[in-house]
Amino acid sequence: MKLRENSITVLENRYLTRDEKGNLIETPEQLFRRVAKYIASGDKIYNKEPNIEKTEEEFYNMMANLEFMPNSPTLMNAGKELGQLSACFVLPIGDSMEEIFDAIKNAALIHKSGGGTGFSFSRLRPSGSTVKSTGGVASGPISFMKVFNSATEAVKQGGTRRGANMGILRVDHPDIMDFISCKKDTSEITNFNISVGLTEEFMNAVEKDEEYSLIDPHTKKITSKLKAKEVFDHIIEMAWTNGEPGIIFLDRINKTNPTPQLGEVESTNPCGEQPLLPYESCNLGSINLDSMLIKKDNGYEIDYEKLGKTVEKSVHFLDNVIDVNKYPLNEIDDMTKKTRKIGLGIMGFADVLFKLKVPYNSQPGVDLARKIMKYIDDKSKEASIKLAKERGTFSAYEESIYKDKDLEFRNATTTTIAPTGTISIISGVSSGIEPLFAISFVRNVMDNDKLIEVHPYFEEIAKERGFYSEDLMEKIAEAGTLAHIKEVPEDIKRIFVTAHDISPEWHIKMQAAFQEYVDNAVSKTVNFTSDATREDVREVYTLAYKLGCKGVTIYRDGSRQSQVLSVGKKD
Ligand code: CDP
Repeated sequence: MKLRENSITVLENRYLTRDEKGNLIETPEQLFRRVAKYIASGDKIYNKEPNIEKTEEEFYNMMANLEFMPNSPTLMNAGKELGQLSACFVLPIGDSMEEIFDAIKNAALIHKSGGGTGFSFSRLRPSGSTVKSTGGVASGPISFMKVFNSATEAVKQGGTRRGANMGILRVDHPDIMDFISCKKDTSEITNFNISVGLTEEFMNAVEKDEEYSLIDPHTKKITSKLKAKEVFDHIIEMAWTNGEPGIIFLDRINKTNPTPQLGEVESTNPCGEQPLLPYESCNLGSINLDSMLIKKDNGYEIDYEKLGKTVEKSVHFLDNVIDVNKYPLNEIDDMTKKTRKIGLGIMGFADVLFKLKVPYNSQPGVDLARKIMKYIDDKSKEASIKLAKERGTFSAYEESIYKDKDLEFRNATTTTIAPTGTISIISGVSSGIEPLFAISFVRNVMDNDKLIEVHPYFEEIAKERGFYSEDLMEKIAEAGTLAHIKEVPEDIKRIFVTAHDISPEWHIKMQAAFQEYVDNAVSKTVNFTSDATREDVREVYTLAYKLGCKGVTIYRDGSRQSQVLSVGKKD
């Protein structure tokens, strides 16, 4: 197996099994074998004489050839005692002490098993309202978020990563203005991403510059009215300041809720790509698009036949995960099996655009995104129908929107674009559908030793076209973009665009193109340069709404003291 150095490092640090003394007792091959074997065993439930070896081999080869990777908890826990395989959960929070602290306990159990949790705090009565049993005063959603945050701080996810949470508050909750600025102090509520749940009514009020009503979820009474524009301004101000809150379009999400009779979607998972009903979980998996290319004499092409087959095997894999998963709570076990949601997506999209010589920020780039995702979505539905014939539809099918259309699916949803934060490192490709952050960057190792890491395909092209030199690669790393590097030919500059070369509008157009053919949602960060204005942020939030996105996350370069990715010289 050919793995990159970074991939081996990640696998060794977090995924490969160790003995009690901490010694590694598993190789990457053994990890993929362990996962393939365990997930293939799910076939036994439906088939008395299954060809388990064949399934195991198919699953093993997909992972070992870096063609498909399930989400991290599956890689870490499949075939082990813990056995919790899902990345995403949503838990309900009711408006009583018991329900609030039950949710904290349940979240701790999920974090301990490697999953992340999303919550809507919208059902909690506003701060300052009365509490009947004690005659006291309610603390409100933000105070309780701090308690959730502290609990998360204390529990490391599966001993490998700190818990991740999403906190949502509806825009018509009376505490909305405080919620919007609750992460202004970036040292607070650090284990949460926050997003405001926007309604159609609110978006219309913004457009018409009208007021809208705030409603106490406990009494259901209107407490006051606010000018929608002022609330929108406050969201924009804070997002411009440090990237939060994000926004999600709640009514739009519920328009595509496949099982409205089971309840309303109030929240997403931590990174926003997976809307779920309370107590639902979802397991994700991503196809490495770069491994679906074939080299032809005059360049690369997508091998659609291979892609189609990989989609079918991936859907089979993810459907099995649902049955062999060990759920942290009975309620989650029940809900997850009612809808059997899976989230198949892609990674390596930016790498593929480079090889196909298509700029990310171009109409052909966006058209290609549509074509690829439509194909994957169609094939995933075919695979789900095939599974339904063998295994039956998801049990809530009769109550789903598919019933009237006579579409007998095994899974209430099949597609999601995940961030693929770590599985893309394991696979050695660009993450999800994001553009590359930099073509070349300097990694500081030891005191003064510098290691220049160059995108391998760029290096290949640079050598082929005769403009490669180590000095040039360092210069590119320091500049953070090819835009002003005169040694690089113009046609190469146009193709090898990175996050900051791409205008926010193109980021959103790309997100919207993928959303068209994705059941769930799309993980995407819209990158702004540090000199972007509040108006720029407003335009992007508005455009995302117009183009049919389910939510938006933005980040303005340099707006947080510690940021995950940065380019250029640091002083
Ligand atoms: O690449 P990997 O499978 O590790 O995860 P991802 O695609 O970056 O994230 C997918 C989902 O995993 C997130 O939306 C979260 O629900 C969950 N997650 C988490 O709980 N904790 C993290 N530190 C990272 C991701």
